[in-house]
Amino acid sequence: MKGVILAGGTGSRLRPITHTGPKQLVPIANKPVLEYAVDDLVEAEIDEIGIILGNKGRDEIQEYFGDGSDWGVEITYIVQGEPLGLAHAVGCAKDFVGDDSFVVYLGDDLMREGITELVEDFDSEKYAAGIGLQEVDEPSRYGIVDVNDGGDVIQLVEKPDDPPNNLALIGIYVFTPAIFDQIESLEKSWRGEYEITEAIQGLLDDGKRIQSHMVYGWWKDTGKPEDILHTNRLVLDGIKTSIKGTVENEESVTGRIELGDGSVIEQGAVVRGPVSIGEDTTIRSDTYLGPYTSIGDKCVIDGGHIESSVVVGESEISAERTIVDSLIGRKATITANHKKKPDGERLIIGQNSSLEL
Ligand code: G1P
Repeated sequence: MKGVILAGGTGSRLRPITHTGPKQLVPIANKPVLEYAVDDLVEAEIDEIGIILGNKGRDEIQEYFGDGSDWGVEITYIVQGEPLGLAHAVGCAKDFVGDDSFVVYLGDDLMREGITELVEDFDSEKYAAGIGLQEVDEPSRYGIVDVNDGGDVIQLVEKPDDPPNNLALIGIYVFTPAIFDQIESLEKSWRGEYEITEAIQGLLDDGKRIQSHMVYGWWKDTGKPEDILHTNRLVLDGIKTSIKGTVENEESVTGRIELGDGSVIEQGAVVRGPVSIGEDTTIRSDTYLGPYTSIGDKCVIDGGHIESSVVVGESEISAERTIVDSLIGRKATITANHKKKPDGERLIIGQNSSLEL
């Protein structure tokens, strides 16, 4: 079985973070969002992966994953161009997948338990497709599915006004090539997209069977800044201590910490895990890093208190302030302004920034 990762989105809901790099490479606990999908496919023993790319961030993504050999897989890049919906993105993989069944993974999604069970469960003799489902709180935001007692899907509807239940498509699908005929006969939905949910409904309408698979571990779509922060907390909850850099005084470091090569936690800094720190980053004395914080590569954090936040990388923060629940983009500088008159914050704010002072 081959794997197809849909990574064509533009990341508009993550601006301005996505002005300095594609959303697929935004790090969660110091690993890019898209790498979680690649790792899950590798774990499910899928060794040929097609990544569907949009117009944005193509070069950076290809540079990061290369030919896939660092992950022990072969990666093929397929250009979707304009994002016309999930069904359009899947349709772009037709030549890549050939005659086999294949798994499709939404590149924005992270899930705790991976996809191995779902992939192993899929019975291509009996079913034309298999879908991952989970109960959600706001069913009208998702594709919603009705299943019978045997777990067969009986109906699918995208973002229903009046949801029949709260069982949502989580963005993991296994398809046989029968899906491509359905995709080719689709029309655009009310939101102007070719919907994969409607293509699967088309298989049902043609009398084919669709298998469902419940997924119980946490699952997150990382489309919005608050989702990145929440997913960061969920992932940090599962990290193990790994110290490759230098901790000058071990007594000031508690809980589970990841510290990358070339990074230093200086004497006098306090770090309370779970915390992930990338490579070549310095945490100076008088800094307090609280739980659920990820600091990327090549940062200098000099004083102040940072908690429950993600600092993407190459940033300098010496604000002597308390920063919580914040997502700080690449190459940001945050400094203190205690000597300047009149008192007040001095800000240089990019388009679509959001600040709470
Ligand atoms: C897409 C799918 C939807 C699915 C969701 C999962 O929605 O269309 O069926 O439930 O992903 O994240 P979108 O993210 O395009 O709103």
